[in-house]
Amino acid sequence: MTICGTIIEVNGALEQYRKRGEQVGFVPTMGALHEGHISLIKASLKDNKVTVCSIFVNPTQFNDKNDLARYPRMPEKDARLLEDNGCDVLFLPAVEEMYPNGPLKESFDFGHLDKILEGAHRPGHFNGVAQVVKRFFEIVTPDKAFFGSKDYQQVMIVKALIRQLRLPIELVACPILREPDGLAMSSRNALLTKEERKLAGLIPGMMQQAAQLATELGIAAAKAYVAEQVSQHELMKLDYYEICDADTLEILNDLPKGKKAVALIALFTGRIRLIDNLAVNS
Ligand code: PAJ
Repeated sequence: MTICGTIIEVNGALEQYRKRGEQVGFVPTMGALHEGHISLIKASLKDNKVTVCSIFVNPTQFNDKNDLARYPRMPEKDARLLEDNGCDVLFLPAVEEMYPNGPLKESFDFGHLDKILEGAHRPGHFNGVAQVVKRFFEIVTPDKAFFGSKDYQQVMIVKALIRQLRLPIELVACPILREPDGLAMSSRNALLTKEERKLAGLIPGMMQQAAQLATELGIAAAKAYVAEQVSQHELMKLDYYEICDADTLEILNDLPKGKKAVALIALFTGRIRLIDNLAVNS
């Protein structure tokens, strides 16, 4: 695996592939890698001649300074994991390499998409994501980019970004990888105390139960159930639980027949904010 810290090095590593017109796959991450990230690497390796992974804890997408400060960083361990899994190129840029002229001023308009759910609770978050993903796309110029459905709204934002900029990049959305108890894998899980980790294990079961209630009794019943369940645990605090149109992310009050729906949740377990989502049958 070639490890690059600069854009010049990335261009050097990809030159031979680009010359031959070979397909480049790209997996952007913020590191503290787990099997969820590795599943994206594997999907890219299967589908492309060369796979580039980036690790960059992007300051512009953190609306909470404490979250940025405590975000786990373990580049050596990550590099070993990527190497063991056959990744070809690792791009580990410094903040100055990504933003040489200071923070980008660029702002995007994603309509309602960046104003609801994560957008409403983390002001500026998706603008920061769009800025850094655009910058990475310009540097790596991938043919395919691999994103996890764990960040469902992020996938929709990046799809919109690709459309708006008319980029010749195919976004591949990959399934959520989960721990044995069902908790969605996340770099932030490592920050949970033992007690919090046990509590967090209740989230997937609650999501399943709520989805069933939504189908049988309606969305209001599902929301009431989630609010009630979360309120039973002092360590948990609900940010939102919504059921949305799976294609447009419009927030739904009723489950219309024949439309795909998805339930999305964000909640604090202790100081750590977790998100998850689950398809809901109509
Ligand atoms: P990060 O949280 O490190 O996630 C990198 C990629 O891994 C994202 O596409 C995310 O959806 C995916 N991922 C995380 N957990 C997963 C799981 N349990 N199963 C499957 N995929 C999973 O998302 C970001 O970084 C950043 O916002 C980024 C896109 C890199 C821009 O800074």
